[in-house]
Amino acid sequence: MLQTTETPVKLEHAGINENTRHMLEKLKIVTVIGSGTMGNGISHVFAQSGFSVHMMDVKQAALDKAVATIGKNMDRQVSKNTLTEEAKQTALGRIVTYTDMAEAVKDADLVIEAATENIDLKIKIFQELDKACPEHTILATNTSSISITRIGSYTKRPGKVIGMHFMNPVPVMKLVEIINGYATDATVTQLVYDLSKYLGKVPCVVNDYPGFISNRILMPLINEAILALQEGVAGVEEIDTIMKLGMAHPMGPLQLADFIGLDTCYSIMNVLHMGFGNQKYAPATLLANMVQAGFYGAKSGEGFYTYTPGSKDLVVASRFQNKTWKM
Ligand code: CAA
Repeated sequence: MLQTTETPVKLEHAGINENTRHMLEKLKIVTVIGSGTMGNGISHVFAQSGFSVHMMDVKQAALDKAVATIGKNMDRQVSKNTLTEEAKQTALGRIVTYTDMAEAVKDADLVIEAATENIDLKIKIFQELDKACPEHTILATNTSSISITRIGSYTKRPGKVIGMHFMNPVPVMKLVEIINGYATDATVTQLVYDLSKYLGKVPCVVNDYPGFISNRILMPLINEAILALQEGVAGVEEIDTIMKLGMAHPMGPLQLADFIGLDTCYSIMNVLHMGFGNQKYAPATLLANMVQAGFYGAKSGEGFYTYTPGSKDLVVASRFQNKTWKM
């Protein structure tokens, strides 16, 4: 594990803004709240880049599972020779787990919240973070659609609240969508921008409107694919194949919805629908039904496809296999 006096940031790293370099040098301890898919991916990337990572979740079992997942994902990199076994062990040694939030953040320079996409939960977490963190700590959220300005307004440091939206799988996807809250300080935005570059990512700064850019564009695409399925225009396989082979998307929109989580897609559509007050963002009834019935996609074992642990085969869920199926 890094000593707290050790500086993880290499000064010579290219592309870092001079003005924020000294601030970046002081950034050593990063606390990640939540150890699910996004939380463990974010912890992975920070630990691999030399930061001391405090990973916090309410259950130790979830944290243990996350550390095991990070180890397995680093093994992929080792097998591809993009990471040495020694660097993997060093990176894993930088991750310390916590179930107590105050303890996890008491020395944090940056906190990244990656909890469930629920506004009430995020507000509660940010109120607690604001009380427990040192004054200098930057509070970032990995929210995929909730207003940064609103989250920041529940703290006494709205200038230090920012969106740092990573994409799944975090170690693979290059983008960090940085979201400026209305009150976010420009120096904080610049710091997070340079930090993202330091992590080897490509940052893009956007302003705080519902769904930002990524999900304002991606979610209506996914929702439209679900509407087309709901109307019986085509089956699951056809819709995904058309988008994969016709538009060179790595995954079809229905497979991507399963991958993201149908519950997350539904909650983002609701944020867009309420935020813009425009009927064009209304979530598809089929999406609402699937979520209400507990079909969340890959994480629950069934969505538009069925998922068997250990198998990479893509099998259309039996209820969607009948080509004449209509809602
Ligand atoms: N950690 C580390 N490496 C990983 C990984 C992980 N979790 N998952 C995959 N990889 C690596 C693999 O080892 C492999 O590496 P090489 O290229 O060096 O061989 C590479 O990524 C590709 O993986 P696979 O061969 O297993 O599978 P694939 O070629 O089918 O790619 C995928 C998988 C990268 C997920 C690809 O299908 C893809 O890009 N899908 C779209 C992902 C996407 O759109 N993500 C954004 C979702 S939206 C979001 O996250 C935000 C939101 O707000 C909703």
